[in-house]
Amino acid sequence: MKKIILDCDPGHDDMIAIMLAEASEEIELLGITTVAGNQAGEKTFTNTLKILTLMGEKDIPVARGFDKPIVRDLTVAPEIHGVSGLDGARLPEPDMPPSAISDMHAVDFIISTLLKENTSVSSGPAPGDEKIYLVPTGPLTNIAVALIKAPEIKKRIERIVLMGGAVYDSNVTPAAEFNIFVDPEAAEIVFKSGIPVTMVGLDVSNKSVFTFEDINHITAMRGRVSGIVGPLLHFFAHANYEIFRINGAPLHDPLTVAYLIDGTILTTKNLHVDIETNGEFTRGRTVADIYGVTGKKPNADVALKVDVDKFKKLVFDAIKKLDLRGL
Ligand code: BDR
Ligand code: CA
Repeated sequence: MKKIILDCDPGHDDMIAIMLAEASEEIELLGITTVAGNQAGEKTFTNTLKILTLMGEKDIPVARGFDKPIVRDLTVAPEIHGVSGLDGARLPEPDMPPSAISDMHAVDFIISTLLKENTSVSSGPAPGDEKIYLVPTGPLTNIAVALIKAPEIKKRIERIVLMGGAVYDSNVTPAAEFNIFVDPEAAEIVFKSGIPVTMVGLDVSNKSVFTFEDINHITAMRGRVSGIVGPLLHFFAHANYEIFRINGAPLHDPLTVAYLIDGTILTTKNLHVDIETNGEFTRGRTVADIYGVTGKKPNADVALKVDVDKFKKLVFDAIKKLDLRGL
C-alpha cells in the first residue's frame, strides 16, 4: 500500500482523484489538504467535505490551506468549474465529525503527518518505515511552503506526483497550464527541491477524456455516487467543449492517483524542467528540456504517454465500488 497525502482544489477532476484514492486497495489516504485554485479557498475546502460526505467517508482528516498563491493574486477558473467550483449537481451538505476536520493549517498538517509517520527522522527511515507520496492536484502553494518551513520533511517524501504543466500543450494561456500558472513561484520551489517529481501534465491529461457517452454511462448507473458524479462531469465536459472544443471531460487530476495504483498507465521521460516565473507572455510555462540542450540534470519524470483504456477502467470501477458502499 502506498501512503499518500492529496493536496487539491476541488474542482471536478480533483473530486475524481479523491474518489479513486478512496476506493483503491493500493492507496492509503493519510489526509486531504486543500488550497485555493479552481475556486476560492473556502469553496475548495467545503467542496472537499461535500465529496467525503457523498462517499460516506468520515475518518479521513481534512486540513485547509492557503487562500492565495505565495506572491500573486489568486486566479480562479469559474468558466471550467462554475461559481461553486463544483457546478452541475447538488452535493450533500458537509456532514463530517469535528474530529475529521484538522485544526491545523494544511502546511502544518503535511509537516506533522510526514514526521509522525516515522519516529527516526534524524537518522533516516527505519527498515519497513515507508516514505510518503505527496499528490498535489492544484496550485503548489501548500507544498512549497511546507518545504520551506520544514526542509527536514524532504527525506520523508518518497516522491511528489503532481498534476501540472505540459511539454507541448497549454490551457490557461497559450504558454501555461492552470496549476503552474496560478502559483509559478511555488512550482519553482517544488521543481528545484531535489525531491523526485513526476509531472503529470496536459500532454497526457488532455488525452484522458471521458466522452459524453462515458459520462452518460456513469449517470445511468443511477447509484448514490454515480448519480451525482455523472451530471457534475457533464457540466465539466460541456465547459471543456465550449472553451477548448474537447469532446468530453479531460480528467487531469485523477491520472496522478491512477499512476500510483498502476505504474503502467503512464510512460514518463526523465527531463530537466524549469518554471517560467518572469516571462511577459509565458508565466507558468514548464520549460522542459526534451533534447537535453541545456546540459542541466533532469529533475522530473515527465508523463508523455497514457493508456487511456486502463485509466478509464480504474475510474469506472472506483465509482461502481463507491456506489455499492453501505452507509
Ligand atoms: C488543472 O487545472 C484545474 O482546473 C484542474 O482541476 C486541474 O488540476 C488542469 O489544468
Ligand atoms: Ca485541480
